[in-house]
Amino acid sequence: MRRLLVTGGAGFIGSNFVRYLMEHSDAHVTVLDKMTYAASRESLAGLPADRVELVVGDICDAVLVDQLVSRLSGERDALVHYAAESHNDNSLHDPSPFITTNIVGTFTLLEAVRRHGVRMHHISTDEVYGDLELDDPERFTESTPYRPSSPYSASKAGADHLVRAWARSFGVPVTLSNCSNNYGPWQHIEKFIPRQITNLLDGGRVKLYGSGRNVRDWIHADDHSSAVWTILNEGSIGQTYLIGADGELSNRQVIALILQQLGQDPDDFDHVTDRAGHDLRYAIDASMLRTELGWKPQFGAFEEGLARTIDWYRDHRDWWAPQKAATEATYAAKGQ
Ligand code: NAD
Ligand code: DAU
Repeated sequence: MRRLLVTGGAGFIGSNFVRYLMEHSDAHVTVLDKMTYAASRESLAGLPADRVELVVGDICDAVLVDQLVSRLSGERDALVHYAAESHNDNSLHDPSPFITTNIVGTFTLLEAVRRHGVRMHHISTDEVYGDLELDDPERFTESTPYRPSSPYSASKAGADHLVRAWARSFGVPVTLSNCSNNYGPWQHIEKFIPRQITNLLDGGRVKLYGSGRNVRDWIHADDHSSAVWTILNEGSIGQTYLIGADGELSNRQVIALILQQLGQDPDDFDHVTDRAGHDLRYAIDASMLRTELGWKPQFGAFEEGLARTIDWYRDHRDWWAPQKAATEATYAAKGQ
């Protein structure tokens, strides 16, 4: 049986991938997750115990990582690396864990796969390319130069550079993917879409940074998982693939949809303090993934995926409610 080691598999996107694997493969999955504030055991609940194993540990723990990577001895076995500190706002408050986990952690994994000759797929972000003007006709491609803006995106860029260097210098068999903004179930309520949904479900108000002209390129997390699975199976070793679903919307448009879908006035929101260094626009050209590997997203209209996401948060109040007051207190302290 194929074995996969999935770092960060108890987080938002990593757990989506583990659930995806249960439906679309017969792989045995070991999740290595430090169980930070962003992780959730519930996101893996109910999965078959004979196929999913959770190891609570740190990707910076070289002994543990070596032990887990050494078990990946089959030809189709692989390490899929999702673990990261992932929130830009947190990286502005305290960059330290971003440097440790995203850079030193990735280095630790690379040394282990190098020793054991294991395939690695590295999960990265479109933010490594910096931002675009609103009217820029070009979108990000695999050859766009790196120009990260925040401590988070700089740490992800640093990790990407290490992965490429280990491939070139040591011949480590890697693939990389850089995806745009994900949404869907199990996303931490510190992030934009779940924050606004849960604010409204809680009787609070929507909080928009700055002017709200900033554009993000939304993709459902299920489509991210199917893209990663396609790359693992069909991708060329050494190649980077951009993942996106042509989902560009301004933050102002997204909050109008959320307010409308929850039966409220689309103009009824608060402008709050902007994020320092706030990237203006991200946009992905996923042509290589679509044409060379034949991948396409399954989610059509964003409105439909959003409606399902709102229903999910309505049905999972028990999961998010205990974190809500503390998350909002952190934002309130920053005027956000
Ligand atoms: P998340 O914050 O929801 O989950 C991250 C997971 O990593 C958590 O379970 C956490 O406990 C774990 N983790 C953190 N530090 C660790 C450590 N030192 N050792 C082991 N586990 C650790 O993040 P996410 O949104 O699911 O993002 C997952 C990956 O996808 C990240 O690499 C991120 O950069 C990338 N990405 C995210 C998006 C997005 O829109 N969320 C888009 C593109 C790429
Ligand atoms: O592009 C991929 C990236 O998308 C990932 O690499 C990151 O891990 C992920 O967090 C996400 O980064 P963003 O910074 O784009 O996502 P966030 O949800 O934090 O914010 C989305 C947009 O919404 C951004 O322009 C800031 C704005 N925003 C955010 C919050 C939390 C608001 O206007 N109000 C808010 O309350």
